Amino acid sequence: MKIKENYSLKKLNTFNIDVSAKYFIAVKTENEILKLINDESLTTEKKVILGGGSNILFTKDFDGIIIKNEIPGIEIIEESNGDVLVKAGGGVVWDDFVSYAVENGFGGVENLTYIPGTVGAAPIQNIGAYGVEQQDVFHSAEALFLKDGIKKTFNKDESKFGYRSSVFKSAYRNKLIITSVIYRLTKNPIPNISYRALASEFENRDVKSITIKEINDTVKNIRKSKLPEPSVIGNAGSFFKNPEINKFRFDRLKKEYKDIVYYKIDDNTIKIPAGWLIEKCKFKGRKFGNTGTYKNQALVIVNYGDATGEEIVEFSRKIQHAVYEKFNIDIRPEVNII
Ligand code: EPU
Repeated sequence: MKIKENYSLKKLNTFNIDVSAKYFIAVKTENEILKLINDESLTTEKKVILGGGSNILFTKDFDGIIIKNEIPGIEIIEESNGDVLVKAGGGVVWDDFVSYAVENGFGGVENLTYIPGTVGAAPIQNIGAYGVEQQDVFHSAEALFLKDGIKKTFNKDESKFGYRSSVFKSAYRNKLIITSVIYRLTKNPIPNISYRALASEFENRDVKSITIKEINDTVKNIRKSKLPEPSVIGNAGSFFKNPEINKFRFDRLKKEYKDIVYYKIDDNTIKIPAGWLIEKCKFKGRKFGNTGTYKNQALVIVNYGDATGEEIVEFSRKIQHAVYEKFNIDIRPEVNII
């Protein structure tokens, strides 16, 4: 275990922002975390846990300690005829976990492929895509509190999952490190092609005949066509959450915009894709200096090279302002701005 000083974070965040941390450490075991917690010289330092750095925007050098979760391992801990409980280390790359599941014929996460990040970050954000959220397969997570090293297991109820939210993102933000997560996968997968873009790909197929490998490959292709590859163009996926509005406001909007895209959440709540709102404000594919929105998906802000975090935040505010002016809708960042 080695603490590094004045450490560059450029390669550790998918926006490729060139900032550094006062201290940096990569941890691979619970014991290393406990050692760190008990190190009195570090008790007053601000601490941020980093996974794949794929949902974070640094706006300045970090004056504290960045702890990178690299706890490895994937193992089956319980198996029945129908289900399998699989435990994965917090540092496991999320998509490696997805590949493991698909290769073994375990269903549940095949739609969540190609999402950058780690297993330990997946519950924080309650990652979701193509009709599935990680809460659908989440069983429990083990975490260590950074203050005193106390270990706690969080079951699904305690994790308080919502749309891109959880107790780990709110009350316990940067207060604990998720060391492992257990997922309940199924040996008898039921294909989920409810998401519009996916349903149209399998239009003429009998749902029962679709394999999880096919779903996995199809989602990969859709994502490749829409989302920029972070190793080529810096980005953190969707920059904003999709906003929800009430039925009254939706009905008024629908009158004005016949082509509005929406998802009904309940009788009085409608979710509107922020990408659609941004595109309507003519921001899709627009470039502002070193930053801009992606040409195929307006919800993704990209770094064309040397953008600073501040520049990206400033650009994101322009977008928020334009959407508010045109639609009277407040869109909020999904990315963690630090
Ligand atoms: N749309 C536009 N213009 C755009 C982008 C989208 O009009 O530039 C409209 C299209 O009609 C499209 C609809 O919005 O059909 C939805 O777009 P998409 O399927 O790309 O999904 P999204 O709502 O923009 C969400 C997640 C993504 C996830 C996809 C697929 C959020 C904030 N984002 O995006 O997650 O991959 O659905 O399920 O919920 C992420 O969180 O980083 C992320 C990429």
